[in-house]
Amino acid sequence: MEEPFEQAARAILDARYLVALTGAGISVESGIAPFRGPGGLWTKYGEPDMNGYQRFLADPKRWWEERLSGEDLRGRPELRGFENAQPNPGHLALAELERMGLLRYLITQNVDNLHYAAGNQRVAEIHGNRTKLRCIQCGARFPREEFTLETLPPRCPACQGVVKSDTVMFGEPIPSDVLEVCRNEALQADCMLVVGTSAVVYPAAELPVITRMRGGTLIEVNPLESALTRECDIVVRGPSGELLPQLVEQVKALQR
Ligand code: APR
Repeated sequence: MEEPFEQAARAILDARYLVALTGAGISVESGIAPFRGPGGLWTKYGEPDMNGYQRFLADPKRWWEERLSGEDLRGRPELRGFENAQPNPGHLALAELERMGLLRYLITQNVDNLHYAAGNQRVAEIHGNRTKLRCIQCGARFPREEFTLETLPPRCPACQGVVKSDTVMFGEPIPSDVLEVCRNEALQADCMLVVGTSAVVYPAAELPVITRMRGGTLIEVNPLESALTRECDIVVRGPSGELLPQLVEQVKALQR
């Protein structure tokens, strides 16, 4: 009987359409704190209230003023970890799998832009991207640096709608364009590599279930058990920064 590690490498190689779903855990080795579990932001500060988006809509100007003054970090230094975080070997391994033509799509819950920085191109960011802004009226997205923030809130050049961070706030619906892509990719997948997520936040957490319901194989890479573990066919326990590069090497060995 093959070890889970060998099983995972074989499943990745044999997949007709492999999709990855990543969570905060893949960025822990880049110095970005996760949300839940050991060292998690919510573990330390408690889960934020679910009406962030409502508060934004009530006074977008104030939201922007708080954000630009750094008030929104409210002394949570961990949130500054993003600024100069770099992709770690786990991100780079997933970029390699895309270059090898084995990873067809990558869905991430992370807003840290590290999968793009690592070189992945076929990426859906279900919770948005902190380096982008988005018009809440027409959905247009812009690189953050494209906007001068003289007038607050910034307005969309196309439709004059209010512009916010692309990062999805608590209480904000997932933008329908991204959600549709994520669901279609989960439907197409016959194998999903689930990395570094506690799998408790929806609709992201339903994506592996969609793949599973169509007979797809689920592989979990996580040092700890998650809410999805029981659904997974193959569980590889450990940090993704170590395990994903080893998995890529094992896949290459199988290809020889
Ligand atoms: N390698 C892989 N996984 C790891 C590592 C590591 N080095 N370190 C921790 N993990 C795992 C934890 O065991 C946990 O299962 O990463 C997971 C992190 O879980 P969460 O912090 O809940 O992150 P995530 O699942 O992405 O949260 C989903 O919740 O608050 C919202 O918007 C936020 O996108 C986030 C969503």
